[in-house]
Amino acid sequence: MQISTYNDVVSRARELSRDLDLDLLFRTYLFIPRKILRDAIREFGGQLDGKLLDVGCGRQQYRRFLNCDQYFGIEWCLEKRPPVVADVTQIPFRDRAFDSALCTEVLEHLPEPGRCLDEIRRVVKPGGSVFFTVPMTVHTHSEPHDFYRYTEYGLRYLLEKHGFEIVTLRRLGGVVSVMASRGINLGCEAMSERLDRSALRGLRRLLVTPLAAGGSLALYGLSRLMDGVEQRDAIGWAAMCRRVAN
Ligand SMILES: C[S@@+](CC[C@H](N)C(=O)[O-])C[C@H]1O[C@@H](n2cnc3c(N)ncnc32)[C@H](O)[C@@H]1O
Repeated sequence: MQISTYNDVVSRARELSRDLDLDLLFRTYLFIPRKILRDAIREFGGQLDGKLLDVGCGRQQYRRFLNCDQYFGIEWCLEKRPPVVADVTQIPFRDRAFDSALCTEVLEHLPEPGRCLDEIRRVVKPGGSVFFTVPMTVHTHSEPHDFYRYTEYGLRYLLEKHGFEIVTLRRLGGVVSVMASRGINLGCEAMSERLDRSALRGLRRLLVTPLAAGGSLALYGLSRLMDGVEQRDAIGWAAMCRRVAN
């Protein structure tokens, strides 16, 4: 009885921390871009209904923001424990098997993104909703599998070419969030490295986390106010699309 009360309290605390995005604030130096992406999924995820395929799902971090009836995720990295292990350029499902799809921060990792888009188009029913996000200014990651960054024009060209009608194209972040997230990330990494070489190495998390969290919150607030002043920068782009009929 006591154990179950304790477990309930812990799981409620975890839920609350995720609802308030405290998990992002205290676990990563990349709070600003991750919060912006998560908020985009919160906003658009409700439109992804029925049987959904999360393409390149990673650790399925957005699954709980979706209210689809059935969730399938494919991913080729076994360590991330995806529901289905497969290459997103050869999706192992029949034509028109899904009502909707999600593909976040994956297209930049594919040398031939069009092959993945053709596969998504094949497995989603005509008229089905598909939500994409891509980075425009994020630093290189998952090397050497990091091939592209996208402007809104590049993304629009690619999606339309492969049979998706863009319903909404949304800028994610702007000039302040781009500079702030890069600055915080670099600053925290540099500080962590210095601490690791010093006698204070055991206190690294204790010293860096409050600085990262405080700086992230303050600059996130500023970015909400100021990102719109300049229209050429973005952390990335989000596109809510409809799968065009043949
Ligand atoms: C930046 S992560 C994004 C993961 C997830 N969509 C998210 O937003 O949290 C990119 C993911 O795509 C996966 N990926 C890259 N190329 C792939 C391929 N050809 N087939 C399957 N998964 C792939 C990677 O393993 C990685 O988990």
